[in-house]
Amino acid sequence: MKGKIKEEDINSVRERNNLIDVVSEYVALKKRGKLFWGLCPFHQEKTPSFKVDPVAQLFHCFGCGEGGNIFTFVMKAEHLDFPQAVESLANRIGYKLEYEAGSAQEPSKKDRIYEANRLSALFYQHVLLKTSEGERGRSYLKERSLNTDIVRVYGIGLAPQAWNSLRNYLAKSGFTDEELFNAGLIVKGVKGNYDRFRGRLIFPITDIRGRVIAFGGRVLDGGQPKYLNSPKTPVYRKSSTLYGLHMAKSEIVKRGCVLVVEGYTDVLALSQAGVKNVVATLGTAFTIEHVELLKRFSDRIVLVFDADTAGARAAESASAYLSEFRLPKMEALRDLERRSGAAGIDVRVVVLPQDLDPADYVGLRGADDFRKLVDSAEPFFDFFLTRELDKYNISETQQKEQAALAGFKFISTLDPLTHEDYLYKIAQKLKLDEKALAVKFNAMFKKSIPIQNEARKASLNPQDKVERSLLHLLMKYSDIRKKIPAEIEGDYFVSPAHAQLFAVLKGMGAGKFDTKVLDDLDKSLGARATELFLAEPEYEEEEISKYFEDILKSLKDFYYKRQINKLRQELESQPAQKDKTRYDALFKELIALEAKRRDLR
Ligand code: CTP
Ligand code: MN
Repeated sequence: MKGKIKEEDINSVRERNNLIDVVSEYVALKKRGKLFWGLCPFHQEKTPSFKVDPVAQLFHCFGCGEGGNIFTFVMKAEHLDFPQAVESLANRIGYKLEYEAGSAQEPSKKDRIYEANRLSALFYQHVLLKTSEGERGRSYLKERSLNTDIVRVYGIGLAPQAWNSLRNYLAKSGFTDEELFNAGLIVKGVKGNYDRFRGRLIFPITDIRGRVIAFGGRVLDGGQPKYLNSPKTPVYRKSSTLYGLHMAKSEIVKRGCVLVVEGYTDVLALSQAGVKNVVATLGTAFTIEHVELLKRFSDRIVLVFDADTAGARAAESASAYLSEFRLPKMEALRDLERRSGAAGIDVRVVVLPQDLDPADYVGLRGADDFRKLVDSAEPFFDFFLTRELDKYNISETQQKEQAALAGFKFISTLDPLTHEDYLYKIAQKLKLDEKALAVKFNAMFKKSIPIQNEARKASLNPQDKVERSLLHLLMKYSDIRKKIPAEIEGDYFVSPAHAQLFAVLKGMGAGKFDTKVLDDLDKSLGARATELFLAEPEYEEEEISKYFEDILKSLKDFYYKRQINKLRQELESQPAQKDKTRYDALFKELIALEAKRRDLR
């Protein structure tokens, strides 16, 4: 088992990766002045508030407050912990990490499942490509025109026909039946345990980092069931997984669009044909969890439905969307915008012509035609609204009214900005008067929506402003850091976060601000640090020392004032005659502070 990653390796990985390149894999950045700007990958926004400083190798979003260094970015973007983020960035540049011995821990249950899965995938692929039993699988793939390259990219394999091949193989590597059962690789039977997958073509299912988390197995003949899949395990939940995402993600970012199909084989066929920004759901509806996963890579999602399942799938997806946004609607609406659910994301639907699935279609017509088809996709809610309205026979007045109500109910859960458009569509479709429809809709559903005030724009109190300005200077200018008077301590700061940051900076001494210190700060403090670092300067570079002096003065002034007030209060609550010496001492202190404060001016 791995120990701790060596410190010097962490530093090498940090130095050899460029934050600008790494961020650019997620969002487009534009250079403006000394900084790069883009739309924040961590929240939905229309105007860029995400800044990256190429020299300091720091990022900060002034919209949502996320910020940090290259490791923080990868942790957040890929949902990783610190060591995983280091590993991921090491992989990115082909750097081999060394782990410190001695700090080895027991592998967790999950680690064992990942390892069992990894070995199983290798085993299955070996059987497919290198054994005589594999011939069945190889000829099946040939029949479906899937070549060896694509088989390797997606790690396709074949499970042997025998009852215990995988189980015996993994037992030799030290895996117990219990572990294999936990991984979903074996099944407990009355006559003993046996391999779950036998005589099937195997599709390893990976997570976003490429770790194998489950398998799908397809029969090679007409047997039943056509697909057998891993059960839910500690590392696998199908409703939050998308097949092929790991292989597709860079292409998704590049194209700014992701296609979601229904089958494993569709992913393979499309990818082989050159349409690589493609993933598949795993026999489930497309859920809000999938949106959460995909929106990090692209805000355009095109659902590609097979004709025969389109209706059911669309309804499932829509209800998955809608159930998330159940009443109270106002809350849900704001939440939806905040979490950039449906409102900020462009989800479209295209239905394939009768009897064709994407694999067939791209096989018959080629990649260009398939892309054209995708370009004709209709917005998801339009598609769903049409289907909803089509359920009613609108030549009957009563049904027409019911159709309108169903339409209202549906659009009332959507972004209010879209209501007008949808009301227009309903009116067109049902041949009703648009104005009358709008009046009725407003009477039934419209409530005023409180506008969220932007906390960031709220004016800061002077104390807070001074603290921020000082920390900004101390991070950016090492020569200024040298000039901090020894008397300034944490208690000069009112914000505990600022006090903590100040302590770190004071301890750092001279030299360039090292983004490394962020690794040791807790998340919110690290984000505050980058926010302050990248804050818009309020001074001209030439007059920086004057600016520093002024800030220092204010900081002291505020501090003395607080102390003075404290002393006054104490003096008031303490009658002079009760403890004369203590009273005199306090009084002397007060006088001294007042003098100090006067000296500042
Ligand atoms: N599926 C499943 N179990 C089944 C049938 C289907 O889990 N018994 C899931 C699989 O993820 C499958 C997807 O639903 O990939 C789509 O099913 P289908 O269109 O029948 O399969 P394809 O992947 O298109 O496979 P093929 O082209 O080989 O028929
Ligand atoms: Mn299919």
